[in-house]
Amino acid sequence: MPGKITNDQLIAAANEFGTPLYVYHAEKIKEQYQKLTTAFAKQDTTFFYASKALTNINILRYINEIGCNVDCSSINEVKLALHAGFPPEKVLYTSNGIDFSEIEEAVAAGVHINIDSLSNLEKFGKKFGHSYPVGIRIRPNIMAGGNIKISTGHEGSKFGIPVTQLDKIEEIVKHTNLFIRTLHIHTGSDIKDPDVFVKGIEVLFELIPHFPELEVIDLGGGFKVPYHTDEKETDVNLLAQKIKECFDNHPVAGNKKFKLWFEPGKFLVSACGFLVSKVTVLKDNGATVFAAVNTGLNHLIRPMMYDAYHHIENISNPAGEKRLYTITGNICETDTFGSDRELNEVREGDLLAFHNAGAYGFEMSSNYNARFKPAEVLVRDGKAQLIRKRDQMEDLLKNQII
Ligand code: LLP
Repeated sequence: MPGKITNDQLIAAANEFGTPLYVYHAEKIKEQYQKLTTAFAKQDTTFFYASKALTNINILRYINEIGCNVDCSSINEVKLALHAGFPPEKVLYTSNGIDFSEIEEAVAAGVHINIDSLSNLEKFGKKFGHSYPVGIRIRPNIMAGGNIKISTGHEGSKFGIPVTQLDKIEEIVKHTNLFIRTLHIHTGSDIKDPDVFVKGIEVLFELIPHFPELEVIDLGGGFKVPYHTDEKETDVNLLAQKIKECFDNHPVAGNKKFKLWFEPGKFLVSACGFLVSKVTVLKDNGATVFAAVNTGLNHLIRPMMYDAYHHIENISNPAGEKRLYTITGNICETDTFGSDRELNEVREGDLLAFHNAGAYGFEMSSNYNARFKPAEVLVRDGKAQLIRKRDQMEDLLKNQII
């Protein structure tokens, strides 16, 4: 069924490939992409999937296949995207704090580039002058996003060139004869309110007269996804409507017909993914019943790093009586996935599925405690296919001088 993977499919994948296991649902990614393209059909809009959310090469290939472009945050992500088959013109490299040599490599690869410092902008201008159109990441000084760790557009943020340094940008553009094609902002992740994007656009619109060769307004990513079952994702139809009004009503932007770019990560791949784990130990400490699972912060760090909520479901005992559990990992430090969660009765050996694990799940995993990284499976057209093998002992020793 499009958009939905069943618990039976998750259980079957866990039985076939073992646990802990990341399972992704291809059709859900497509459904999310189509929501975006449908919402923005009235405007010249291109979506670049923020691949930092999940870079498995099979996911990248699928994203390419459904017609979406790709955004990268390191030169290695650029190389993975090209390896997955994206043509360079569908690849964007939004850099941050990087060595200029990576930008040179990106130019050699022929991909779009957004530059986020005066220093690299100047080096770029000196080396490439007007020959290679480029984008500038602006810090609009807007506070946005689900929490401070994922807010990037505010005054204390390292990201982008502060909008207050426009004079310095102009000086560099003028004396190195740069071709500024794109103005970019990305103010944070988990943004539900469309007006945050509108505020960002208003900041960029003020800059338009300063960059006569401008063709693209890139508003980054950050659309909210529902982590809690009672939450709603960003209303992309409303967002599209508000943004269109902004462009249509603006005296300069309205006439120039700018292209609009976005870089969604979570919106495309968060809900498609599940981390399926097995309950290893039940510990009734009187006040709390702990359900320990065979995964931990090494595999899904979001709860520990951002206090993020992930819905947890006992998929192997759906008829069990509901009671409260605290779900913990197997890592040698506190790694609580959820406290006092109401779950169907949990027994040792049951399978617990963590929802919304597609974005920044596997991608932020590590081998902490010398544990193996999980395997990854892609379910497409109802068929489960292994897309990454579980680590083995050799992987832990790989690269070590023995
Ligand atoms: N574009 C740029 C320049 C970004 O820095 C990011 C995310 C995105 C697009 C995609 O944002 P998204 O649509 O996924 O919200 N690890 C954190 C999120 C960090 C986001 C970093 N930048 C988490 O798990 O919540």
